[in-house]
Amino acid sequence: MSRKRVGVLISGRGSNMRALIEAARDPAYPAEIVHVVSNKADAPGLAYAASQGITTQVMDHRDHASREAYDAALSQHLKSKQLDIICCAGFMRILTPVLINDWAGRMLNIHPSLLPLYKGLHTHERALADGAKEHGASVHIVTEELDGGPVVEQAVVPVLPGDTPETLAARVLEVEHPLYVKALAKLATSL
Ligand code: GRF
Repeated sequence: MSRKRVGVLISGRGSNMRALIEAARDPAYPAEIVHVVSNKADAPGLAYAASQGITTQVMDHRDHASREAYDAALSQHLKSKQLDIICCAGFMRILTPVLINDWAGRMLNIHPSLLPLYKGLHTHERALADGAKEHGASVHIVTEELDGGPVVEQAVVPVLPGDTPETLAARVLEVEHPLYVKALAKLATSL
């Protein structure tokens, strides 16, 4: 079985991207990370990807006239890399059908909540404000509905007394990394 070629989209730190790169070092992992794109030139994750011999590309959304124009250029770029799967990993963009439809069923996103709870931003603050007892992360297929596509894998963490958005985010992030590795393997083997 040939390993699936994966591109990762980031905007910042890139710790989920790093987890995927590390997992994919194992030749038995069903996917390889072959390319990384950031919409921000100063995304810290870019340097790590490059240090691992992975090609990187900055595509600044501000260089494009519209959201659709950016997404069309991005999709074209990704197609030129002959990728099988796209992983959004802290890619802070609202995506349009121009991009989403090109990669239907082959694009994943990680979201820091137990979807369908807390779509959108500030998930940890909102979970705490609600007095939630549990919180977590989800990896889902990207569809036109923001944070709304079918969930592939979820991980739950407890909300503990005295939690702040920061302590809760850190606990969630710890489970995000193995979660994304598991979800990508699941999609890669299903294609
Ligand atoms: C993660 O919490 C992810 O769930 C969310 O953005 C954050 C990205 O972190 N979509 P990193 O860039 O992967 O470290």
